[in-house]
Amino acid sequence: MSELPHVFVTRRLPGPALDSLFGVCDVEVWPGDVPPGPQILRQRAASADGLLCLLTDPVDGELMDACPRLRVISNLAVGYDNIDLPAAAVRGIAVGHTPGVLTEATADLTFALLLAAARRLPEGMAAVRNGGWGPWSPEWLLGLELNGAVLGIVGMGRIGKAVAARANAFGMEIVYTDENGGSPLSEVLEVADIVSLHCPLTDETQRLINGQTLAQMKRGAILVNTARGGLVEQDAVAEALVNGQLGAAALDVTDPEPLRADDPLLNAPNLIVVPHLGSATRHTREQMAWLAVENIRAGLLGQLLPNPVVVAGGPTAPTRRESGYA
Ligand code: GLV
Repeated sequence: MSELPHVFVTRRLPGPALDSLFGVCDVEVWPGDVPPGPQILRQRAASADGLLCLLTDPVDGELMDACPRLRVISNLAVGYDNIDLPAAAVRGIAVGHTPGVLTEATADLTFALLLAAARRLPEGMAAVRNGGWGPWSPEWLLGLELNGAVLGIVGMGRIGKAVAARANAFGMEIVYTDENGGSPLSEVLEVADIVSLHCPLTDETQRLINGQTLAQMKRGAILVNTARGGLVEQDAVAEALVNGQLGAAALDVTDPEPLRADDPLLNAPNLIVVPHLGSATRHTREQMAWLAVENIRAGLLGQLLPNPVVVAGGPTAPTRRESGYA
C-alpha cells in the first residue's frame, strides 16, 4: 500500500493538471464516461484523503462518514450545491471550488442564449430545414432588439457582472438584484425585457422563478438560466410559454440533468435547452482542472485552500488530522 495520500477523481479531466499530482499523490481517476454513482463513489472514495469531484456527484455527510481519511473535497465547478457544506465543516473537511476562471465562458454562453432567444434563431434555423423559408417578409420572425432593452440580472456576482459588461456593449439597460444593494426581485421582474439568472442555488433561491414570480414579469419577456436548474419551476415555465406570459426561455441548466428527451418541458414553444455548457470551452475547463488540483494539493498539505468555499464563520479548513502529505 502506497504511503502517498490517496486522491479519488470522479472523472477524467481535460489538460495536464492532474498529471501534476502523479508522484506526489496516489491518484485514482474514475474511467467512466458517466459519473460513478453513489455506491461506487462510496467504495472508491472510502480510502481517499482527497476527493476531486464534479457537480454531478452528491457529497453528503453519509459519504463523508464512509471516507474516514477525507480531509479535502475539491469541486470542479464554481457552484457547490452538490456538497453538504455544514457536514464538511463539522467533520473538519475543507471544501474548494473553481471560481473566476469560468466567468467569461459562462457569460458568453448566457449571451449566446440571450441572442438566440431574442432573435428567434431556433425558429429561423428550423424554417430553413423544413421548407418554411419563403420570400423575404417584412413581418416574419420579428424579435426583440437588444439596444435599449432592459436586462434584469438576478445575482450580481462575477458572472452577473460579466453579463452586464456584455449587455452594456449591446446598449441594454440593466437592473439587478444583489445581496449588497440592487433592486428587489419584484422590481427587476416588472421592468425587465429579459431576465437572466446568476445566483447560487440555496434553500432561499430554490424555485425562485415560479408561477407567482413569472406572473410578475412583463408579458412576453424572455427568461435565461445559466445558473442552476433548481432555481426554476419548470412546469410553471412551460405553462408560461404556452400561455404567452413568457415570450421565450433559454435554459443551459435544468432539473434534473440530464433532462430526458421525452420530458414534457420540451414540448413548450419558444424554448431553447442546451446541455449545461456554460463553462464548456477547452481553455476554461483546463483552468478549472488546475484550480481543482491546487485545492487538492493545499488541502492535503493542511494549508488553506487557494479557492475555498466560504461558509459562515470563515472558509472550511482541514482539521481532521495532520497532513501526511510530504
Ligand atoms: C457549473 O455549473 C459550475 O458551477 O461550475
